Amino acid sequence: MEYRELGSSGLNVPVVGMGTWQTFDVPGPEGEGRVRGLVDAAIRAGSTFIDSSPMYGEAERLLGLALGGRRDEAQVATKLWTTNDAEAERQAARALGWYEGRVELYQVHNLVRWPERLTLLERLRDEGKVGVIGATHYSPSAFDELAAVMRTGRIEAIQIPYNPRERGVEREILPLAEELGLGVVVMRPFGQGGLMRRSPSARDLEPLRPFGVSTWAQALLKWVLSDPRCHVAIPATSRVERVAENAAAGDPPWFGAGQRALVGRLAGA
Ligand SMILES: NC(=O)c1ccc[n+]([C@@H]2O[C@H](COP(=O)([O-])OP(=O)(O)OC[C@H]3O[C@@H](n4cnc5c(N)ncnc54)[C@H](OP(=O)(O)O)[C@@H]3O)[C@@H](O)[C@H]2O)c1
Repeated sequence: MEYRELGSSGLNVPVVGMGTWQTFDVPGPEGEGRVRGLVDAAIRAGSTFIDSSPMYGEAERLLGLALGGRRDEAQVATKLWTTNDAEAERQAARALGWYEGRVELYQVHNLVRWPERLTLLERLRDEGKVGVIGATHYSPSAFDELAAVMRTGRIEAIQIPYNPRERGVEREILPLAEELGLGVVVMRPFGQGGLMRRSPSARDLEPLRPFGVSTWAQALLKWVLSDPRCHVAIPATSRVERVAENAAAGDPPWFGAGQRALVGRLAGA
């Protein structure tokens, strides 16, 4: 697995991490075992950068439980997500409890009340509890605001959607991230699963085989990671065997323009 520095933040991350939206929100008694199985697979495969949020139900808590006794083997990225200042403090206290007192990347989810949330995260960073501060948004309609936050100099990383059918970040966000030296975490590499509904044939994927690609999921991840402005992709899966499949896209050689164009065509973009 290749590692990249998250912008100029000093945090080195494996290029294929893991998301937890829906997949780690497993209610009831089976939740703990299911999430532990996914985290075991992620650690085995080297996808040790794991992204969560208080928005994802049980995910944040179950991730903490699954990391019990081996917290050092993972890098946790989580978020603050609330309009309420007191609740933001509670979210941070809960997360720091679950993650043994530190969060490697702490983000403002969907830019909700970002000036106040950044103030809280800056305090936690000064206290040594937060490594890198970031901000996320999923919607192109918020990219102007995201760009404004990037320009404040108060964040070191962003999390944005990027895949062959969602390329809105190419206009301003990715060039600006590069100019400012910000880390880029890519959410939704499979378009929330929409890009997986119809997989191209093995024959269609044949030209990508020399790049270590044997599945459509790997082609899509390599499409993202072949843009050097992107540092880590965080695909989510509920299936243990897919964790290793996705992680296998995290090694060079990377695609050139021709392979990226082919993946774009196969995605129907
Ligand atoms: N900040 C934000 O606003 C925001 C918004 C959205 C997402 N995110 C973060 O980004 C992460 C990823 O985004 P996402 O979960 O929306 O979507 P995604 O990773 O693009 O797609 C997830 C879907 O892909 C399927 N999948 C995963 N690996 C596969 C494989 N090898 N082969 C076939 N299908 C595969 C999964 O199904 P199976 O479970 O059946 O494998 C799931 O349905 C989230 O989990 C979350 O951490 C953040």
